[in-house]
Amino acid sequence: MRKKASAWLALALGVGMALSGCSSSNSSSSDDAKQGSQKAGEKLEIFSWWTGAGEEDGLKALIKLFQEKYPDIEVENAAVAGGAGTNAKAVLASRMQGNDPPSTFQVHGGAELNEGWVAAGKMEPLNDLYEKEGWMDKFPKALIDMVSKDGNIYSVPVNIHRGNVLWYNKKVFADNGLQPPKTFDEFFQVADKLKAKGITPLALGDKEPWAATHLFENVLLGTLGTENYKKLWTGELSFNDPQVKQAVETFKKMLGYINEDHSSRNWQDASQLVAEGKAAMYVMGDWVKGYFVNDLKLKVNQDFGYVPVPNTEGKFMVITDTFGLPKGVKNPDDVKKFLSVLGSVEGQDAFNPLKGSIPARIDADPSKYDEYGKQTMQDFKTAELAPSLAHGSAAPEGFVTKVNQAVNIFVTQKDVKTFIDTLASAAAELKK
Ligand code: GAL
Repeated sequence: MRKKASAWLALALGVGMALSGCSSSNSSSSDDAKQGSQKAGEKLEIFSWWTGAGEEDGLKALIKLFQEKYPDIEVENAAVAGGAGTNAKAVLASRMQGNDPPSTFQVHGGAELNEGWVAAGKMEPLNDLYEKEGWMDKFPKALIDMVSKDGNIYSVPVNIHRGNVLWYNKKVFADNGLQPPKTFDEFFQVADKLKAKGITPLALGDKEPWAATHLFENVLLGTLGTENYKKLWTGELSFNDPQVKQAVETFKKMLGYINEDHSSRNWQDASQLVAEGKAAMYVMGDWVKGYFVNDLKLKVNQDFGYVPVPNTEGKFMVITDTFGLPKGVKNPDDVKKFLSVLGSVEGQDAFNPLKGSIPARIDADPSKYDEYGKQTMQDFKTAELAPSLAHGSAAPEGFVTKVNQAVNIFVTQKDVKTFIDTLASAAAELKK
């Protein structure tokens, strides 16, 4: 396990070196900052990839709440731009390797945390904080399990994002007399009708390759079902299984309906196509809702609609952003204060309505959420939960990086056999 983690660290570090210096930070302080409980000058550095368009509103609201409660603690928002942590993860790896951890950092619950930083011995357990705050029955057990290893809890979830959402432009659908598709067959029927009208059926922005992996994992879930999808990440189901081939064929067919300039767009740019009616549908996590509503000023269920990705009704692709306490930070008490605000009902209800996600806590206030949020809170309670690969829960970072590379090549070359062979050989490292 430890060996795997350090191999992953080394891989991430290579990219980190290449990216050094791309951190965009802006600090906010108060006059009272120096009176903090920690040594003067120890800022609370919050590291994430939530900058700009659609990403930072929730974080800013959370920081504001924290500063109201702890005006004497100086906060530095050390976010590094790039969707899904494209750049931030590499910068983080380089800092962790150099024993220069941020006070706290964004990390996905699941393998990214547990097989990465925890296995590498870089995180402090937070069991005492969970006890003190009475959190053991306030977060769903499934979520606590995702941030735990060998009986210890290592981070605090700030949210739950849903990955298997098909967003669509309401006007385009209404004008063309279309219903949002529930199955892959319906998807292709709708897509053909749109194509015939000169409308791009499906938006994709894979300038950062994870966005194509995001689409692919949804097709896998819709084709294999939750149980078999989960078995892929434990090595119990081979990538050579015929169902995977079927999913890859469906994915390939979908790629025949995307915008031509997909490789020059990021996820925000691709969602703009749907907002403007230039594309009809988009498969993306519900951070898109934050972007649509906060940045593009679109209205939920008027300008855009949403349904589960075809064949995934009753399933929930889980993505959870969490924050923990790295070993060796100089201000652990301040970090715990931040984590206690982040894990409080108030903190979650400040962050999530803006972020597009639902609260990780079960006792948050539904009235603070729009109809999409309320529906998603309901769905989470009853759906089959599936961990996202693209967003760090299903498998370690080293494997995700290999899949991203393979998907990226597949999107242009569309060679089914080569793609599956690459996935199957990468999967060798998943076997326990
Ligand atoms: C995910 C993350 C989300 C959102 C998204 C796009 O990995 O969990 O919170 O930031 O990337 O950047």
